[in-house]
Amino acid sequence: MIWAERVLERPLELLSDHAHCELRAASSAQGLITRNPSMAGLVDSLSRLALEELKHFRQVIALLEEFGGELLWAEPNPYVEGLINGTKSTRGAALLDRLLISGLVELRSLERFDMLADAATDPKVKALYAELGPSEAGHATLFSRLAEDVFPAELVEKRAAELCEIEGSVVAGLEFAPRMHSGVAKEHPAS
Ligand SMILES: [Fe+2]
Ligand SMILES: [Fe+2]
Repeated sequence: MIWAERVLERPLELLSDHAHCELRAASSAQGLITRNPSMAGLVDSLSRLALEELKHFRQVIALLEEFGGELLWAEPNPYVEGLINGTKSTRGAALLDRLLISGLVELRSLERFDMLADAATDPKVKALYAELGPSEAGHATLFSRLAEDVFPAELVEKRAAELCEIEGSVVAGLEFAPRMHSGVAKEHPAS
């Protein structure tokens, strides 16, 4: 719970970072469509997902603006970049890796949303994260299903296990910051 309490001390930075996560999720889904135009099921489901992510983006920036904040410049996301770079060195199928990474990011976001919904004292922040959580859970399931539609179950399972190991080492190396995918908060700073 320490992580959620600490990031909620800086809600404007958290919400700006979260907004960029939603925008990137929409953009990533569009990239998958662009690179796989002949896969009708993927095109249909990921275009719906991209719309949902953009809706989430609008919900987040609406709350950000209500709190007097503004959307800041996007910063690199060490968590997602760590996953992408980690898979490059172990050479899986590009589409499988992208689907599995997207599913992992959805699950990690869901975990963070649940912690934020529990820890938030502001009712609007609590309501936002309680509302968005189930949607991201559905997205994680969708990415798993898309992977299993295209690739043999054994291969999906094997690569998913490898990715979980990569994710573990990426997460262990993340620094704390008021960001959605930051590392653990070890101690409260002296104030
Ligand atoms: Fe989302
Ligand atoms: Fe999502």
